[in-house]
Amino acid sequence: MIPQTFIADLLNRVDIVDVVGRYVQLKKGGANYMGLCPFHNEKSPSFTVSPTKQFYHCFGCGAHGTSIGFMIEYSGMGFVDAVKELAQSVGMVVPEQDDKIPPAQRAQMQAQTMALTDAMTRASDFFKLQLRSAPTAIAYLKNRGLTGEIAARFGLGYAPPGWDNLRSVFPDYEAVVLAESGLVIDRVDEDGGNKKRYDRFRERVMFPIRNTKGQVIAFGGRVLDHGEPKYLNSPETPLFSKGHELYGLFEARQAIRDAGYVLVTEGYMDVVALAQMGFPQAVATLGTACTSNHVQKLLRQTDTVIFSFDGDKAGRRAARRALEACLPHVTDNKTIKFLFLPTEHDPDSYVRAYGKEGFEQEIQEAMPLSQFLIKEAVGEHDMSSPEGRARAQFDAKPMLQAMTPTALRLQIVHALAQVTMTSTYEIESLYELSKPVAPARIAPPRSQRTQPMGLELQIMRVLVAHPALGLEIDEAALNAFQYFGAEPAERLAQLVSAAQSLGESGNFAAFAQHLKSQGDEFDGLIGDIVKEPESERDTERLVLRAAIRQVKHDALKQELSQLFAAGLSADQLGLRYRELTAQQDQLLREAQAELANR
Ligand code: UTP
Ligand code: MN
Repeated sequence: MIPQTFIADLLNRVDIVDVVGRYVQLKKGGANYMGLCPFHNEKSPSFTVSPTKQFYHCFGCGAHGTSIGFMIEYSGMGFVDAVKELAQSVGMVVPEQDDKIPPAQRAQMQAQTMALTDAMTRASDFFKLQLRSAPTAIAYLKNRGLTGEIAARFGLGYAPPGWDNLRSVFPDYEAVVLAESGLVIDRVDEDGGNKKRYDRFRERVMFPIRNTKGQVIAFGGRVLDHGEPKYLNSPETPLFSKGHELYGLFEARQAIRDAGYVLVTEGYMDVVALAQMGFPQAVATLGTACTSNHVQKLLRQTDTVIFSFDGDKAGRRAARRALEACLPHVTDNKTIKFLFLPTEHDPDSYVRAYGKEGFEQEIQEAMPLSQFLIKEAVGEHDMSSPEGRARAQFDAKPMLQAMTPTALRLQIVHALAQVTMTSTYEIESLYELSKPVAPARIAPPRSQRTQPMGLELQIMRVLVAHPALGLEIDEAALNAFQYFGAEPAERLAQLVSAAQSLGESGNFAAFAQHLKSQGDEFDGLIGDIVKEPESERDTERLVLRAAIRQVKHDALKQELSQLFAAGLSADQLGLRYRELTAQQDQLLREAQAELANR
């Protein structure tokens, strides 16, 4: 958990115009900046960024949010990563509540990350430069059908033959960071003495692997001939973890958005070749099985994932692993499909043999996840024998158990029941499939809840636009909110306490970020505030005070009108009457004093 106050400070420190401007070309137009919306296709700009509100809003598709929201939506990182990334860009260190890392060590880790990133960037530049003067490597890439343009887009390079070419890039070839980055290998002599250091990548075409920010974090290097291993990869480093990264994701981001789906392949060459042949929305797992982590990362970018595996046995196995990685993430609004190429092909060779149309056809005919799961369960078992059918059920069990209760799971159970001659109910109880957990407290549907209006809405609007003003709201005001009714009073009380928790530095962006994380209840209000011109906090303070006085006044009036029906003794009645009218007078004096001060 990152403290709310840190989020507020962070949003105060970063400038959303900078953040968005790194990815979207912005032009100043009046008080705001305008650009082409990165979240939907458009020809004329309807995407605005407000420097005063620290918020972006698209009038075309309705997308809106803070700097943090933008990072999440645009680059598909998680909330924590987005916060970390932004914090780093302004030199802030994210506190972690269960942070056992002392600040000194944290600073050292950050320094190491920077040194590693720097080394990788320099090596990548070196390899790119070397490719230009390496006719054999250029011939190899040309021979595989690649244009210079594609090579440049993916930053392909060449590590020349020789044991220590990187010496020319890193004058301090003995630096620790070179070993940590995996660019060199230290070999220790048998007798334990005499360390020998040499370049890891030699005589290979280099594929830089970039993270979501576009920084080079690792390399894959391919031999030009038939040497072993065919691909040599960077080891796991503090920058690079295979199970998390996907080759080509940085390059493919916009294309994934445009196409509405991502193609997942197995190889570097598949990604590059597909991009060349008109499928820039392709990425690859890095010679590892597709992990649950990968799937999560992809589903943050798009609703549709199509796996395209090699036609060979290994490809089939990889598909099965991918299926398993997907199961926990299946929801009814996402689509996951599997495309199986003929045995002798991988996506690279297929698209070259059958062209764009041929591959497009394969995509159209890709197998939906449900069908693949049933196919895997049935396998080679004989569905005409009880044993075979039982085996299919047995094999399906762990896969169905890995799924959450979705409509799709029910459909799969239906299908499985049919092929195995049982009933849906029998399968569900046989597997003890989790029933949808009855949500403890479901918010009543929107239509049945009282919509805020009038004074309540006015107070909410001020609070959301200027959460720091929440600190002005005292116990008496919270009591007076009962006048609106129990539900609105509760809603206001929650809003006030959330606003107060941001402290003095609470601002609209931070609060909107917080509210969005709780659900969509306030989206309408946030959208309205974004569209309005910026309001002054001091003016709004007066508006808030006046509104609260009004509520208090109305509440008093209501109590007064009901006083005589309350069955009090004459004494009690007289006392309460004087109390209430005195409070009314007090309110009036406050209002007059404030008017006089303006
Ligand atoms: P493939 O053997 O299918 O290679 O490995 P490929 O992608 O088709 O490559 P080309 O077309 O022969 O050049 C698939 C992926 O597995 C990883 C790489 O990421 C490769 O792209 N791999 C393969 C390795 O890491 N090391 C290897 O030695 C081989
Ligand atoms: Mn290949």
